Amino acid sequence: MSLVYRPAQADDLAATDALVVAAINDLTVRHGFGPMATASPPSFQLFSLKDDPGGLWIAEDDGAILGFAWSWVCGDVWFLAQLFVDPARQGQGIGNELLARTMEHARKSGAAHKALITFTFNRVSQGLYMRHGLFPKMPIYLFSAARKMVMQTLPEPPLRAIAIDGNAATMGKLAEIDLCAIGATREKHHRYLLDDPATTGVLLYAGSDCVGYSYVGPNGHIGPLAVMEPDILKDAFATALRLASERSAENVSAFLPGTCDGVLSLALKQGMRITFPMLLMASPGYGDWMQYLPRNPGFM
Ligand SMILES: CC(C)(COP(=O)(O)OP(=O)(O)OC[C@H]1O[C@@H](n2cnc3c(N)ncnc32)[C@H](O)[C@@H]1OP(=O)(O)O)[C@@H](O)C(=O)NCCC(=O)NCCS
Repeated sequence: MSLVYRPAQADDLAATDALVVAAINDLTVRHGFGPMATASPPSFQLFSLKDDPGGLWIAEDDGAILGFAWSWVCGDVWFLAQLFVDPARQGQGIGNELLARTMEHARKSGAAHKALITFTFNRVSQGLYMRHGLFPKMPIYLFSAARKMVMQTLPEPPLRAIAIDGNAATMGKLAEIDLCAIGATREKHHRYLLDDPATTGVLLYAGSDCVGYSYVGPNGHIGPLAVMEPDILKDAFATALRLASERSAENVSAFLPGTCDGVLSLALKQGMRITFPMLLMASPGYGDWMQYLPRNPGFM
């Protein structure tokens, strides 16, 4: 046995996706939730690798990939997008070693804040993150429902939606909203979403004021969604639900922070149900999200 830790390369990423899917489903099945993950092209991983290769690490033994860690940085926020170890090799210190390497990525990037989203029901990951100075901040629930049910009683959209384009003024507006909502700008990530023809992004307007943005994926999944003020989050989510319902996907879904009462109540009222309970963990002082719905635990 010769376990090595090395930077990831582009041609590792299909294998790391298979590892991540297997580790997620092992965990969710063990906890009675059934399988959660399916394989997908590692597009965002590849994007991150090209952007900043220091954030992606592999644990390998005789050519077999046993673990994968992936973090990205925007401004002074570092985010751990994935940390997964082969179920047959968990509990042997591999996750700890990979995490130490991505934490070094955070240190070298000069990030002031660190965050991640993990499974509420995984004691191992939470204990490991606490050991590295990341603490539980708030629950984040994946809510989902059949699109037809959500559509039935939806109110008229409270906000006006205008398609996001790549021009400088739009990018400036998105940066302003992100700074208010999550404390960092993410132009590169908005450009990544804009380049995905299946994803629709809109700026949200109350009258003539731009108050937020929202994206919807081809599968009816809402997020990221961000607003300038906490008070507008419910209206933004109601508008996003309407936009998601107008697509042809079978379901509508979103990750909703446990601190956003109005949004949680609206989701339940529209017939949405909690499918997976997740948890935001962060370095002290970060993660009071009252104006933000993440896209998923990797994109944030
Ligand atoms: C989470 C995961 C990446 C950790 O990797 P690993 O190689 O199994 O973990 P390690 O052996 O390096 O470290 C385990 C540490 O977790 C902590 N831990 C384990 N059980 C714990 C418990 N019940 N309470 C508190 N801490 C606990 C301990 O610090 C332990 O280290 P120690 O045994 O040296 O004290 C891996 O188990 C995994 O892939 N799990 C499934 C997917 C997942 O949840 N990934 C995280 C997504 S964000």
